Amino acid sequence: MTRRRFPDSKTLASICRFLARCRAATHEACYFQLGDLIWRMAYAPNKFDLDHDLRVWTDKRGAVVGVAHYLARERNPELFLMPAWYAESDQALGDEMASWVRDRALRDGVKEVETSCVKGFAEKEAFLERHGFHCFGDPYVFMERSIKRIPDLPTLPVDYEFSPGDPDTPLPGITRSTDFDSFSSVATAPFYRPDLAIRVAYQAREIAAGCICWLDEAGSVAEFEPVGSVEAHRRKGLASAVIVRALHRLRELGVSKAVVRTDDSNLPAVALYERLGFKTTARELGWSLTIE
Ligand SMILES: CC(C)(COP(=O)(O)OP(=O)(O)OC[C@H]1O[C@@H](n2cnc3c(N)ncnc32)[C@H](O)[C@@H]1OP(=O)(O)O)[C@@H](O)C(=O)NCCC(=O)NCCS
Repeated sequence: MTRRRFPDSKTLASICRFLARCRAATHEACYFQLGDLIWRMAYAPNKFDLDHDLRVWTDKRGAVVGVAHYLARERNPELFLMPAWYAESDQALGDEMASWVRDRALRDGVKEVETSCVKGFAEKEAFLERHGFHCFGDPYVFMERSIKRIPDLPTLPVDYEFSPGDPDTPLPGITRSTDFDSFSSVATAPFYRPDLAIRVAYQAREIAAGCICWLDEAGSVAEFEPVGSVEAHRRKGLASAVIVRALHRLRELGVSKAVVRTDDSNLPAVALYERLGFKTTARELGWSLTIE
């Protein structure tokens, strides 16, 4: 079966504009960045299916006013409405979105789903409560740094060199996943930029570390997704090197801010980002819904 992974580029661009407007009205962490969206759709093990896993609501002029996304592998719906629209005054759209989530989960016979919400995002918290979700914790941190003053370009250890991020060379298993080939699917995703996919090769034959940065068309904030080093090559400064190199490229492109999300319990990642000047500016909590 062939699954369509991406909406057409016009729809994708309007989703990005919608998310950017919502972020501007709240906080960078409150809505997906381009990288979150693309990763969910492009990363092959997610088996994203455009016909069933994405629903976009538009107004009469065709502007996006709501987006719901379902990550079947993790039973994880994400529901995005303009902040004011989460409020009770406009229940119709919110109700429709919540029903879509239930129907989507039932389609897979799923009895419980988990979504996320930035701690203190009152409109969305109230919306989730109204629709039967309960907060259970499991925090993620959202970190950001300005790109004005960045560390100097790093020197790599002997035997390591930067390697081009071209789509024909698959990315290795640089996150916790062991599925090496799946990374090539990300390299063919819309908005993938080889100049922002920085990798380090070991002895010119093996990729040891890498990161991908995603920039939406507004182009002022870039998101790192993913970042990783292959286990045998860790604690050699490689993840730091790819991030710093990407920051230099972002500065050349006039980007003002870089952001990253990670699991609060991922201490190596949090330590790495803090050391590189990222600060935690928001926390996301998990919310679960039992489907009856
Ligand atoms: C987190 C990760 C990317 C670090 O990669 P790395 O190449 O080992 O990182 P670096 O060598 O550049 O480390 C730089 C600094 O980060 C911190 N750090 C890295 N790993 C650490 C660990 N296991 N424990 C504590 N601090 C750590 C340290 O301050 C380190 O500096 P030091 O080695 O001089 O003490 C790597 O462990 C990894 O790939 N983990 C799995 C994937 C992942 O979690 N990615 C991030 C998800 S957003």
